[in-house]
Amino acid sequence: MENLIENLNKKFAGESAENVLKYFLSEYKGEIGLSSSLSYEDQILTHIICSIDKSAKIFTLDTGRFFPETYSLIDNTNIRYGIKIQVYFPDYQKIEQMVTENGINLFYESVEKRHLCCQIRKIEPLKRALKGLKVWITGLRRSQSVTRKNMQLVEYDKDDNIIKLNPLIEWSEDDVKRFIKENNVPYNRLHDKGFPSIGCQPCTRAVKEGEDIRSGRWWWENPEHRECGLHVRN
Ligand code: ADX
Ligand code: SF4
Repeated sequence: MENLIENLNKKFAGESAENVLKYFLSEYKGEIGLSSSLSYEDQILTHIICSIDKSAKIFTLDTGRFFPETYSLIDNTNIRYGIKIQVYFPDYQKIEQMVTENGINLFYESVEKRHLCCQIRKIEPLKRALKGLKVWITGLRRSQSVTRKNMQLVEYDKDDNIIKLNPLIEWSEDDVKRFIKENNVPYNRLHDKGFPSIGCQPCTRAVKEGEDIRSGRWWWENPEHRECGLHVRN
């Protein structure tokens, strides 16, 4: 596996996201999927994927705590591209137990409780969503945060036993905004209201001009903790 990953990284070094996606969508047809949080990056990937193969799996992990604007964007994206984004929900029994025992907003109390909420609302549904897939496409970019600066275009995710493909890994914030504008890609209206990075509503807030793009995510925690565990294991 390590050889394969190394070869793929060499083969696609400096290639456009579109060419990378063309190769993987055809090579792994039926066994590849994009996880979308409806972020700028995921909307760009959705746009490119739909121009190549509309039947490819695109899914979102609906935590139940998204912003109303994010839910609207799911519908708008489906209409714009003529697709149906697959929606995964968490296990209702686990949610009921967690909320009954700890309260609905447990995540503000400790990092452990925050991880528990992310585990039940995101990580467990992710495992289900990835079942049967060989390649997992994400919208990760290296420049997003300190926790992501060593990520590669192609990686092997040992925990999920899957090839992870990050076609926008080298894109800058400006590249992202330019692509969205030039291609009229539907995006989350909260981006125009000071939200550069958007996750669950209670764990995301607006940031001031010039502040770090992820500083509005889990803002009460230290920067090195600000990951939900989907990509950086806790
Ligand atoms: S997070 O770990 O802090 O939540 P971020 O919001 O930066 O992640 O998103 C990075 C990538 O993780 C997205 O491009 C997407 O592939 C995936 N992702 C994050 N949240 C979700 C979600 N709720 N549903 C599906 N994919 C998600
Ligand atoms: Fe829960 Fe917040 Fe994680 Fe969403 S981001 S799953 S609300 S802790």
